[in-house]
Amino acid sequence: MTTSSSLKGEVKIPGDKSIAHRAIILNAIADGISRIDNFPLGGDCLNTIGAMRNLGVPIDVDLKKARVIVYGQGLRGLKMPSHPIDVGNSGTTGRLLIGLLSGQGFTSTITGDRYLVKRPMDRIVIPLTKMGASIHYEEGIGTLPVYIYPSDLNGIDYTMPIASAQVKSAILLATLYAKSPTIIRGDRKSRNHTELMLKNMGANIITSNDSIFLEPTDSLFARNVYVPCDISSASFFITGAMLVPNSSILIKDVGLNTTRSGILDVYKDMGADVSIENTGFTSGELKGDIIVSSKHPLRPTIIDKNLVPRLIDEIPIIALAATQAKGKTIIKDAHELAVKESNRIQSTADVLLRLGANISPTSDGMIIEGPTPLYGAAVDSMGDHRIAMMAAIAGLIAKGKTTIKNSQWIDISFPDFFEILGRLTNSHA
Ligand code: S3P
Repeated sequence: MTTSSSLKGEVKIPGDKSIAHRAIILNAIADGISRIDNFPLGGDCLNTIGAMRNLGVPIDVDLKKARVIVYGQGLRGLKMPSHPIDVGNSGTTGRLLIGLLSGQGFTSTITGDRYLVKRPMDRIVIPLTKMGASIHYEEGIGTLPVYIYPSDLNGIDYTMPIASAQVKSAILLATLYAKSPTIIRGDRKSRNHTELMLKNMGANIITSNDSIFLEPTDSLFARNVYVPCDISSASFFITGAMLVPNSSILIKDVGLNTTRSGILDVYKDMGADVSIENTGFTSGELKGDIIVSSKHPLRPTIIDKNLVPRLIDEIPIIALAATQAKGKTIIKDAHELAVKESNRIQSTADVLLRLGANISPTSDGMIIEGPTPLYGAAVDSMGDHRIAMMAAIAGLIAKGKTTIKNSQWIDISFPDFFEILGRLTNSHA
């Protein structure tokens, strides 16, 4: 990457990864055929398709149209997989499938790549085991691979120890197959796509300020889904346009679900020039166009537990923005960052330190003192797509050349990232 003079233009980016995983999994166990449009074709979502095909669900993929057709098999129609389900790098696929497969009348195995097999699975296995699931680890140490055996499930009254959409979604999927309802308490803020989709598909799910109630069911209705564009992917261009002088961009049809849009609140608090137009709903999810222009100087900010679940995946790129704000930014209560695709407290600090930022990792976040000029250097993604994309945006404002080792991991969520970035940086050349 080299320094850029400005980002300009209008872009549309791939669909939301979290919504796409759920659209595949839930429609696979629904009655009927569904069409999913604006499907993100990154490695993670393709792994979810591969996993559901392995469970006997026919799924057509039209790469050109970014369209997927799912032939739902009904709640009890999944087949025993012919081989272990390898979900690659996708934590969401792995964790949601452990919940789904706990309720099946057959044995299955779930494994993942060398990064995913190091990430904790106890957060899923503990509540599912309390529901009666029979899940075993190969090494007994709380990581993949897991072996799931048939068992009778009961609903659970569960208070979440951490805010996690993956945990609550795994419990909700298992509950569909249970003998009694589930109540999940204490997670108001993590993304709620599973709850919205289950409701839309006819499940009896009631959400309140601090709890989710779900009844087991016999069937779900298949639903077409138009996936809004991924705010987590958009956040890289939003930040680029904020930081590179003379920039002004418009990103179309971005998902603006309030459980995901914390980054926009933070950037407004930092004084950025970010606005929203053309809001509406697509498949029950709020969406709109995001317009961003560069603005200096930015103010520092404080991010704590009230915000963290609403922007958990955006913290590396927010940290980059903070290096250009005047004063001290504090990010705390974000212990979860340590168990993402990389230890993002460490990998974010490593990349930004190498580029010349003043950033100190802490046990639950980081402290950034700005503004500091950044200087191009060689950095490593540590196998983490979001760290690679953050480094690429940092390269736009760094003086000199930034080289990103292992940038191929970007394909996990956003294979078109460099092409779209190229369009934004060249459209005015
Ligand atoms: C996701 C939930 C979040 C997020 C991840 C995707 C999901 O993880 O970090 O990238 O789609 O449910 P947690 O559930 O662990 O918070």
